[in-house]
Amino acid sequence: MVDSIYRTRSLGVAAEGLPDQYADGKAAKVWQLYIGDTRSRTDEYRTWLLRLLHQHNCQRVLDVACGTGVDSIMLVEEGFTVTSVDASDKMLKYALKQRWERRKEDAFDKWVIEEANWLTLEEDTSKLGHKFDAVICLGNSFAHLPDFKGDQSDHKLALKNIASMVKPGGILVIDHRNYDYILASGCAPQGKNIYYKSELIKDISTSVLWVNNKPHMVTLDYTLQVPYEDQDGTAELSKFRLSYYPHCLDSFTELLKNAFEGKCEHNVYGDFQTYKPGQEQIPCYFVHVVKRMG
Ligand SMILES: C[S@@+](CC[C@H](N)C(=O)[O-])C[C@H]1O[C@@H](n2cnc3c(N)ncnc32)[C@H](O)[C@@H]1O
Repeated sequence: MVDSIYRTRSLGVAAEGLPDQYADGKAAKVWQLYIGDTRSRTDEYRTWLLRLLHQHNCQRVLDVACGTGVDSIMLVEEGFTVTSVDASDKMLKYALKQRWERRKEDAFDKWVIEEANWLTLEEDTSKLGHKFDAVICLGNSFAHLPDFKGDQSDHKLALKNIASMVKPGGILVIDHRNYDYILASGCAPQGKNIYYKSELIKDISTSVLWVNNKPHMVTLDYTLQVPYEDQDGTAELSKFRLSYYPHCLDSFTELLKNAFEGKCEHNVYGDFQTYKPGQEQIPCYFVHVVKRMG
């Protein structure tokens, strides 16, 4: 069975910006199983993100791809003032459930969760009425936005909208898989997943779609070992498919700088370490930190 993963409620047909594959609540359940809870984040991830936010004196954080809430919950628990948005109500359902269950804790009572799409972010979040010290878009989320028109105009619009939520002096933290490597080799870099401790993944197979000699889409087929057993007592395997736009390091850096109209300071990390082009260690993920100047 191949599940598609996210589904949106009220944002129009195929919720502009959300690919058709985001269409089944059962698969959002699989994602919740895969990511688990905040404890499934690795120590490297957690330490790096918290240190970065403290270094930049961030208090108010906007998570623009909160999904089931894994990063947002971690930040709420750490004392940040968090606003979380996502275009998929199927994913938000898990975040809302956590908020409800922990509503007696002051920090959770103050946690704001809204449905919003990057393509209409300013409009969808207009009632929030302020800019943020930090905006995060993590978990290889941005690559979910397809290039519908073939000219990356949706990517540019979404990044401009996301960047507009960062206050002067604030930072955007955004990541993507190492698509340079995936396109060159046809598969994801081997190595430990620095994002999730999850051990449910059994296999990931990679396909690359080229259109007019340009890489247009990377599809990852995940096979997960679901931790409950069927009637025969054998553990169930679940399959789901996600498609991504393959953002390469240099072109994505350029998109980011343009989204800030050049008024920014940009740094890139490979698997949460300072990245030097050509280095021996091949990162699985790139994380960009963009500071708004002026
Ligand atoms: C891979 S999940 C990651 C969620 C979470 N950050 C994590 O690491 O678990 C990607 C998220 O991006 C959201 N997303 C995709 N396209 C979006 C869009 N156009 N606007 C807002 N959210 C979107 C999906 O609904 C999904 O929850």
